[in-house]
Amino acid sequence: MKYLTIALPKGRLAELTLELLEKAGIQCKSADLKSRKLVIEDDENLVRFFMAKPSDVPVYVEYGVADLGVVGKDTLMEESRDLYEVLNLGFGACKMAVAGPVELMGKLNDIPGKRVATKYPKVARDYFELVKKESIEVIKLNGSVELAPLVGLSEVIVDIVESGRTLKENNLVVLEEICDISARLVDNKVSMKMKNDRIRKIIREMRKELRDA
Ligand code: PRP
Repeated sequence: MKYLTIALPKGRLAELTLELLEKAGIQCKSADLKSRKLVIEDDENLVRFFMAKPSDVPVYVEYGVADLGVVGKDTLMEESRDLYEVLNLGFGACKMAVAGPVELMGKLNDIPGKRVATKYPKVARDYFELVKKESIEVIKLNGSVELAPLVGLSEVIVDIVESGRTLKENNLVVLEEICDISARLVDNKVSMKMKNDRIRKIIREMRKELRDA
């Protein structure tokens, strides 16, 4: 029998996923999240984990080197990879939002061609151009996006808001909510056919655990 391979996003989501998998009957004896190992195998239970950068998880799953993966909905929206999103795991909950200075509250639509700084250019474009039918200038940043409106790089940002602390401490506010974000279980399309029984069982067990939690 073959291994079942699961790509995990390094960090807190990996921890929560391993806890959930264990409750759902997927043990991995050698899983040690403190180690720097990137491939963790359990020959007895025939599971293997890849520890990937969160935004790369959909790549491993789309190419089929991982059967399953756990990834934030924000990454899924930005990457739009060819895979199945099979389960909302609920954890890692936050919001995707447009944020900016409080003076822009209720005035977002009054700034034509506004500059939007973001780590999520596709999400920003989809929201402003497809949903709001408004053209914008997207400025791609790699982090600390909240800095952009403070120093005049952009009028607003599109980013995830979790506790809201980063916005608050920088005198910024949510101007519009785009959608809810949380971790999702994703599945390679071929694996779903080839390892159907095992994968379906895992999804069933995980769903049950989430319902009973
Ligand atoms: C994320 C996000 C916000 C912040 C939101 O950044 O991009 O900046 O967390 O969290 P809060 O609402 O709880 O303050 P991250 O910590 O991943 O760092 P980065 O900006 O460097 O990517």
